[in-house]
Formats: sequence, structure tokens, C-alpha cells
Amino acid sequence: MLVAGARPNFMKIASIIDAIKIHNVSIENSTFDIQHLLVHTGQHYDNSMSEAFFRDLELPRPDIHLEVGSASHSVQTAEIMKRFEPVLLEHKPDFVIVVGDVNSTVACALVASKIQYDSSTEGSKLITHNSGVHRPLIAHVEAGLRSFDRTMPEEINRLLTDAIADFLFTTEESANENLKREGIPKEKIHFVGNTMIDTLLKHREKAQQSKILEKLGLINLQLKTENSNLIPYGVLTLHRPSNVDDDETFKNILEALLEVSKHIPIVFPVHPRTLNRIKEFGFENYFDFLPQPLTLSPQSKVLRTKSSSLQPQSSNGLKSLASNLQPLTYGLHGVEPLGYLDFLCLMSNSKLVLTDSGGMQEETTVLGIPCITMRENTERPVTITFGTNILGGVQKEQIIGAALSQLKKYDGILPNTMISTQNSALNTHHAMSPPLWDGKAGQRIINILTNQFIKQS
Ligand code: UD1
Repeated sequence: MLVAGARPNFMKIASIIDAIKIHNVSIENSTFDIQHLLVHTGQHYDNSMSEAFFRDLELPRPDIHLEVGSASHSVQTAEIMKRFEPVLLEHKPDFVIVVGDVNSTVACALVASKIQYDSSTEGSKLITHNSGVHRPLIAHVEAGLRSFDRTMPEEINRLLTDAIADFLFTTEESANENLKREGIPKEKIHFVGNTMIDTLLKHREKAQQSKILEKLGLINLQLKTENSNLIPYGVLTLHRPSNVDDDETFKNILEALLEVSKHIPIVFPVHPRTLNRIKEFGFENYFDFLPQPLTLSPQSKVLRTKSSSLQPQSSNGLKSLASNLQPLTYGLHGVEPLGYLDFLCLMSNSKLVLTDSGGMQEETTVLGIPCITMRENTERPVTITFGTNILGGVQKEQIIGAALSQLKKYDGILPNTMISTQNSALNTHHAMSPPLWDGKAGQRIINILTNQFIKQS
């Protein structure tokens, strides 16, 4: 049984489902098929936060949907637990696979750790533990990451899930060290690589067919430098409670981003939490555009709210794809959250990523796109040692300094110019990928779990 609930979970689950399919068609594995059920907790439920990912990743429809929706952490976690317990008792899976560090991860792991199957039930291959208790084995994918910051809800979710999981599948060496230091027996720790990167590598080429660059006005046919008419731009994501829930902190970050956006236009797919805060704090004026989902026209994903004095000449060639849009220019441009392929296309063609997301630190590492993480710490240090990531903190001057130095270091873009250059970073990922980020993590996980199953059944 695979559990997914929030946006970053869907990419991780997709790779494991692919690996199950490979197992089931492989002649070598003809002894048994893996039956799997996908549980969606409903932690994320908007079309753009959930369904769009199922479509893009060609994920099967969830077999079970818990439909929990948004609530406080405790209510959301408790509600998932309440609704997941009867599902486990009905289906009695041998393994429960949870991914990442969201509330759905810890909630379902906790239920699985305390459930007791009725051992006399026919039809299920029950696994007996030392204590004689029958329950599923719990696999945590992306185990061991630690920010050492217990004010982050995700850090609590990671610590608790790792403490009760039977299989801890790790993405980087620091995670192995963290788990050993916490006293997790080394037989439980399996360094397998990164399922989110499996999915990225699989979809990377396809994503280039996305029309998002045209739709957002990022192609300027009047620009013809080094075979590209792509306007250089940065991508921003921001949604951590510590960054957006406090108005002073959020304002400070926005001031920095506004400054950076005077040097390079910044496209900002706005997370629902962040959009709520922008409205609540009255921060709309920082943006040249903001998404207004209720009034969106089908052709245009962004609406202009104020004109920019730096607007370049319009280009006739854009009419069919982005009839309302001029080529994008300096400023912070909010757009709706994007689906997986559109976002991957946007990110992989950008000059700079500014983020507080965990996953994007990893994705930019593989894509070779300069990344600034607007946090004081990262649970993914390999993205700094191997990758392009630097910690930009949350102070205005620090973020600006980091952004400008990243722009110069990687691309030689001179601040405050709109020259277009080819994105050479796209070709460099092999040299920069951390160990085992090779597209095969999902298969390693399934091999380890099937071997365990064969051993115990
Ligand atoms: C959650 C994860 C975070 C992950 C992020 C990715 C936890 C503790 N946090 O944070 O680790 O990086 O997902 O997005 O699990 N909302 C909607 N529609 C949706 C989902 C959310 O409008 O489909 C709004 C609601 O107002 C909700 C708020 O966003 O209250 C926050 O959503 P929630 O799932 O609680 O946490 P995230 O901030 O998304």
C-alpha cells in the first residue's frame, strides 16, 4: 500500500509504481506479482496541487481517497489516522510505503505501526514480528534527512516516521549518518538514491514540449542571441510557514526578491498558503501580476495588475499562444501553481531558482540550475556539496547578495541586462548528480522489499 497526500509526494510515489510495473512484467520475477493499492489522503486537493500531477505523471487514480482536506496540523494528522486505520484493517497490506516528510507520512506510518491484523484472516500473507503481532512492514522513502530545526513541522514528521519505520530508504550519505547517530540499526538503513530524481529524469525531455514558456511571455522573438529567444528569468517558490506566516519575515523576503527582480524577471507560481498570506497582509503591491483563479481566462494563466515601466516591445509572433501577454520583463510575476511538466520546463530553462522547498534543491542540483534556498539550514546538504544550491538565509541583504553572485557565477549574466543566453546547464547534470541519483531508486526499493517478502513468507 502506497500513501501519498501532498504535492511533493506524487513524484516520489510515481517512481515506485513504475518499479512495481517493471517487476510485474519481468520474466525473472515471474514467481509473484506485486499487487498495490494507492491511498491519497487528500491533504492537497486543489486541481493544481493534486490532479494535475496525477495527469502529468500518468499515475493511476487512487484506489482509496481519504479526503481529509486542510486543517490545523493536529486535526489534519488525527483525521488521516482515523480514516486510514479502517483501510489498513480492510486490505491488510504486507507493506505500507510512506514518502517524504508531510503530515500524511507520519500519520499513516503511526497507524501502521500500531495496527494489529487478525492473524486468522485468510488471503493475506501476514508477516509475523518477534512480538507475535501481525502488522504491515513500514517503508519510509527519503528517510534520515535532518535540518536539526525542530520548529519545522517536517523535521518532527521525519524524526517520528524514522523512529517507527522498518525500512529506511535514504537519498544521501548524510541521512545514513543521521540515522546511525540516532541509534537506528544499520540493517534497516538502505541507501537507494532519490525517487523524486527518478521521476525528473524520466520526464525531463517530455517537459521540454510544454508551452508554458510561450504562455508566460518568456519567448521574445525579437531576441536572437546565441540561437535562443528565451528571455532570461528566475523562478521563485515560497511557502514555508516560517517564511510566509509572519508578516515581518515575509515582507523582508519580498523586499529582497523585488530587488533581485530588477535584475532578472522572476516567475512565481504561488502556493495557496502563500496567496492567502499575501492577501491577508496586503502585500499585493510587490507583484506585477498575481494569480486570480476565479477570473482566469482559458488562454492566460496570469493577469496583469499593474504595468511595468520596463516593458519591451511586443512581439506579433506570440499572439496565438499568449494572446494577452507581452514578453515578460523585470518584476515579480505571480502565476497559479503549475503542473509537473510545465513546472519542470519552467525550472529547467531558468537562470536562477529561489526557493524554500526541499525538493527543488534536489531538482536544481540535477538540472545544474543555480539555486538559492531561502532558509538558514537544509536537510539536504548534498545539494550544496555536489549541487548548485547555496543557503541564502532570510535576511534581505543576504538574499540579494546570494542571488546576484549566483547569476554571475554560473552564467555570466550581467545584472540589469536582458541578454538572452543558451541554458548550458541542461547538459551538465551527469557531472553534478550525487551518488545513486541515477533514475533507479524506485527499482532498488522494490528489489529490497521483494527480497524481504520472499525471505519471510
Ligand atoms: C505541505 C507540507 C510541506 C510541503 C508542502 C508542499 C506538511 C506539514 N507540510 O505544506 O512539507 O512542502 O505541503 O506544498 O505536511 N491549500 C489549498 N489547497 C490545497 C492544499 C492546501 O488551498 O490543495 C491551502 C490551505 O489553505 C491550507 C494551506 O494551503 O491550509 C496549507 O496546506 P497544508 O497541506 O496544510 O500545508 P502546506 O503548506 O501545503
